[in-house]
Amino acid sequence: MLTIGVLASGRGSNFQSIIDNIDSGFLKAGIKVLITDNPEAYAIERAKKHNIEAIIIKPKEFPDGDSYYLHIAETLKKKDVALVVLAGFMRVVGKPLIMKFHNKMMNIHPALLPSFPGLHGQRQALDYGVKVSGCTVHFVHEGVDTGPIIIQAAVPAYGDDTEESLSDRILQQEHRIFPLAIKLFSEGRITVSGRNVIIKAKERKC
Ligand code: GRF
Repeated sequence: MLTIGVLASGRGSNFQSIIDNIDSGFLKAGIKVLITDNPEAYAIERAKKHNIEAIIIKPKEFPDGDSYYLHIAETLKKKDVALVVLAGFMRVVGKPLIMKFHNKMMNIHPALLPSFPGLHGQRQALDYGVKVSGCTVHFVHEGVDTGPIIIQAAVPAYGDDTEESLSDRILQQEHRIFPLAIKLFSEGRITVSGRNVIIKAKERKC
């Protein structure tokens, strides 16, 4: 069974969708730990409700970014985590963590990458005036939202959308494709070749 470590900074609705998809049997995986940088994160309540260990690791308790991310990586390794899931972790992840989980760490971004990386992807898309936006699950490499793309989902963007209405529409798709990407990973169906992610079709039983 795939062992997952989740990093989240806020409300944790994506974290919840992963929990729900495990509970429903869609995902054959177990969440070993939630790590957060924010003691106020609602994700902590969600973890408690589902008996998932939650650990608060604050960057200001470390001399620099490298030691912070090394500590997170070691914590995840100690818990035997095979896949790290960034579910609204509002920091640029540092090299020591990226190296230890190369192509074993996924992030969800609320825009169709490579457009509108970084913060406020939904607002950036609206300000630009796009007619289609969406979300992207990608592996985490160095560089903000630059890693190989695993799955994307598109939604319409309307002229009278607010940041909130577009975000809500995108979030519904986030809750669908993030668990799906994790499922593909857990079934060993993902291969990364340079920037290209190849997804093996499921074998058909006749
Ligand atoms: C989502 O919009 C996700 O795409 C972005 O951060 C937000 C997290 O939301 N990376 P939640 O905490 O999972 O509800």
